Amino acid sequence: MEFAEQIKSAVDIVRVVGEYVRLKRSGAGPRYVGLCPFHTEKTGSFSVHSTHQFYKCFGCGAGGDVIKFVMEIERLTFWEALKYLAERHGIPLPKRTDLADAEARQRGGIFEMHDIAVKVFTDALFSSAGADARDYLKRRGLSKNSAEEFGLGLSDRGGQTLVRLFEKQGFAPDDMEASGLVLRRTDGSGFYDRFRGRLMFPIHSESGKVIGFGGRALGEGEEPKYLNSSETAIYRKSHVLYNLNRARKAIQEAGFSILVEGYMDVIGVYAAGVTNVVATCGTALTPFQVRSLRRHATELVLNFDPDTAGANATEKYIPVLLEEGMKLRILQLTGGLDPDEYIKEHGAAAYQDALRKAGGYFHWLADRARSRVDRNTPDGTVAIWQTLLPTIQKMPDKIMRLAVVDDLAEYMKMEKSVVLQEVRRSVSGRATQGVKRQEARPDPNEVLLLHALLDSPEARVEIVPVLRQPSVLQRFAARQIFEAVLRMVDAGETPTYSGIEARLTEPEKERLAALVFADDTLSQAFTVEQAVACIRTLAIGEREARRDDLRRRIKELERAGDLAGALHLMEELNEMRRD
Ligand code: GTP
Ligand code: MN
Repeated sequence: MEFAEQIKSAVDIVRVVGEYVRLKRSGAGPRYVGLCPFHTEKTGSFSVHSTHQFYKCFGCGAGGDVIKFVMEIERLTFWEALKYLAERHGIPLPKRTDLADAEARQRGGIFEMHDIAVKVFTDALFSSAGADARDYLKRRGLSKNSAEEFGLGLSDRGGQTLVRLFEKQGFAPDDMEASGLVLRRTDGSGFYDRFRGRLMFPIHSESGKVIGFGGRALGEGEEPKYLNSSETAIYRKSHVLYNLNRARKAIQEAGFSILVEGYMDVIGVYAAGVTNVVATCGTALTPFQVRSLRRHATELVLNFDPDTAGANATEKYIPVLLEEGMKLRILQLTGGLDPDEYIKEHGAAAYQDALRKAGGYFHWLADRARSRVDRNTPDGTVAIWQTLLPTIQKMPDKIMRLAVVDDLAEYMKMEKSVVLQEVRRSVSGRATQGVKRQEARPDPNEVLLLHALLDSPEARVEIVPVLRQPSVLQRFAARQIFEAVLRMVDAGETPTYSGIEARLTEPEKERLAALVFADDTLSQAFTVEQAVACIRTLAIGEREARRDDLRRRIKELERAGDLAGALHLMEELNEMRRD
């Protein structure tokens, strides 16, 4: 655990999370807020605390320290997350042998084999063996610079290069097979390389590790045109977007992402200076992928090939995107050109211009419906309704839906009220999912005291002795949290957020997060005097209550004729008055 603590003290959670989630600082305080990367939401309930170095989503309950965050978002094991953070922050790693389990060891091997493969492929592309492939790139207008930036490479035709290398380096046969980079011969006599004689596109995880490849055939008509990596322990197609590792910063800055169909489109658009561009890796778009874009920006421009397949995909993805709360525009380029071809033909400026002018998805859908049916016949009208209504139903945002009603009424040449009614009816049947907020309202006194205990040694000295009076703590809603603080003090430790958290059960962890993230003005603006005054008030309140209780019992005893008992309690009451 020591190494984990060292990592945690060396890295800033706000910066690490900020690479995956667009965070806004809330006021001048230690709290940063953004849209939760772990569930779909419209308003940010995901908070990161810079002083106490943890994150918490008050929507779905996800929360933890920086290591947990990296584990969840990159789908890494504990050890891998430590390694990831250590490498990025120049912290030397301890020996891993005692830390890694079998699964982590195999994943580590698969990562290593991918790193080796990238090196082999890029070396080949720029060696004499790569002359034809380099010609191909030139013909397609792809510069050396782009090829290097995207780590393009060439796989050897012979099919033994990687196998031999992996064997020489001592990778176990099972691990080799698990990497997906080599295949076992059906007769069991050995392995051969999966990718042979192809132009290789490395696919990276969001943090920039190579996790798979796409391989394009170099010959005309060679099938399949693209061969992609199979799913492995480190590569999940449904979660990955090509180029997100390079694009994510630009997406945050631009406020939108561009989704194109292919690897070549990404490279073409990127080379034209539009760097907020990504693609799926030859699979249908999934909600996971949409969410990983949404973490960086809620707007997206869909720019698929203008052929039938591209248009069908666009139509299919619109509801997927809307359902995840994305704001959506469609860019359909003229002349039947895909993004890559369009830029080659018209230049970067023309593409950027077209991008700016990309229209709302709704008009795109309406135009598409109109091209198929005659709007002036009743059947045509019904058909258009049937195309458009499901999409409106998918829009999670009421305001967005209402805005569409205006458009729709005009387009259908119908009364707005009729359209509105129709839309309302279709939407009311929609299953509403979504997560309930479970925010508890913490007591302001307790908020202030907890912050004082965490942040101020002077205040701690004053507060701790008062807290030790058992009758004081009993009145706290967050009693267990303060008891955990006392236990840390008793053990000679300085109370920290993670130290307290480690001593709590699940529901109390929730309460702790709620207390720490409670109203920023309360948590920062406190002075030691205020904290002390607060604990005194609580202590005095406590004494008052005890006095009242004594008086009540004295009366009872008197009434019952137990004068000795009453006298005894009166003495106690007098004692209390003295201090
Ligand atoms: P070029 O055709 O070289 O311009 O590449 P492109 O990236 O524009 O490819 P295309 O528009 O034909 O296809 C878009 C994406 O679909 C590709 O980048 C691949 O990810 C995927 N894809 C295309 N063809 C195949 C195939 O035969 N098999 C698989 N698995 N995926 C493919
Ligand atoms: Mn294409």
